[in-house]
This record gives sequence, structure tokens and C-alpha cells, in this order.
Amino acid sequence: MSDAMHFYETAKGHGLAHDPFKAIIAPRPIGWVSSCSPEGILNLAPYSFFNAFADKPPVIGFSSLGRKDSLANIESSGEFVWNLSTWPLAQQMNQSSAPVGPQVSEFELAGVTPAESRLVKPPRVMESPVAFECKVSQIIQLTTAAGEALPNWLVLGEVVAVHIAKAMIKDGVYDTVAADPIMRGGGPADYFRLGERFAMTRPQG
Ligand SMILES: Cc1cc2nc3c(=O)[nH]c(=O)nc-3n(C[C@H](O)[C@H](O)[C@H](O)COP(=O)(O)O)c2cc1C
Repeated sequence: MSDAMHFYETAKGHGLAHDPFKAIIAPRPIGWVSSCSPEGILNLAPYSFFNAFADKPPVIGFSSLGRKDSLANIESSGEFVWNLSTWPLAQQMNQSSAPVGPQVSEFELAGVTPAESRLVKPPRVMESPVAFECKVSQIIQLTTAAGEALPNWLVLGEVVAVHIAKAMIKDGVYDTVAADPIMRGGGPADYFRLGERFAMTRPQG
């Protein structure tokens, strides 16, 4: 085996000072998810095990480690909203991750404004330049390769409506850089903003 490569079997431990996994799958976009409890209490929390999985129709998903308030709300209502977390909203996004009970609305805690959605009940974050209204398509409890249940739930939702601040659209093209999204790194305090952009076209078949 090459000395140049650090190798480990995950079941036996990484053998490093810090688990590199989340620092390798990084930067991760953040799913800043709003949901609503059956009692009507608004919930907002960030999830960086988050991504897009299809685009026609769009499907996005995030994974909850443990049964958190967002998961419970989304299971009961079948709806959630994804909000883009940006550099100007970094502190608010972080505040909304505070471990508070289901009776506390993180909209208030983080000091962001709920703005009514059109097709779903949970509101979007008014200050965020982009929001997706979502209806749940699947909730999947993850398992190991051997089929043992894990305490992780993957929530997938079809995006049924999209809000984009017009300032982010230039000549009909959404400007990713203008929105200044923030992304999650590996360590507990590690975040990224966008770096260099380059162009590369796909090979012709
Ligand atoms: C940037 C960031 C990303 C996070 N990603 C996740 C994640 O992917 N899965 C998860 O279970 N918790 C994640 N958390 C922690 C949750 O946000 C936190 O547990 C929160 O209190 C959950 O809120 P809820 O119970 O209202 O759903 C993350 C926190 C931060 C700050």
C-alpha cells in the first residue's frame, strides 16, 4: 500500500486527531429549513447534510441526526420551506440552530421575519434572497449496508414554488455569486463563502 495515502476502514476508526469525513465532503450547502408544528409554532433550523437530487421536478433533501423538531413537524404536516443562508444572514442561521424546545420559534430567537408562503403553510425567511416551498415526497430512515437501522432520517421534498429576489437575476440568469451563499466546512466553526469560478463543458457523446 502506498505510504502517500492515509487509509482506514471506517469501522476501525480514522486514526487522526479529527474525523475527516465532514471536512472532505465540504463545503456543503446549507438547508435552512422552516416548518410548522401542528399547534402552529414556527420552526427554523440549519441542516448541512443537504443537497438537491433532481431538477425536473426539483427535489431537495436533508438528513436529521436524531428525531429533531423539524423532522417531527415535517412528518405531521408534509411540508417545509428551504431558505438560502447567505453571508449577511450567517449569524441568524447560526442562532437558529440553538437547541431549544418545540415551543420556541427560532424565527424569533434568530430575529428573522416570517413571510407567508403561497402553496404551503410554513413561512419563508423574508430576509433570505431565495426560498423553495416544498411538499414531502419521501422520508427514509437510513440503514447500514447490513440493514441495521440508523438514527438518521433523510427528508426529501418536491419543490413546488420558488421565490427569488429580483436583484439576484441578471438578464434572466440567476447570479449565484450575488446571493453570497455560505457553506459548511468540517470543524464545529468552519464555514466557506464562494471562491473562484471556472468554466468547463461536458464531453460530446
Ligand atoms: C450549519 C449547521 C448545519 C447543521 N446540519 C445538521 C444536519 O445536517 N443534521 C442535523 O441533524 N443537525 C444539523 N445541525 C444541527 C441542527 O441545526 C440543530 O440540532 C437544531 O437545533 C435542530 O433544530 P430543530 O430541532 O428545530 O429541527 C446543523 C447546525 C448548523 C449550525
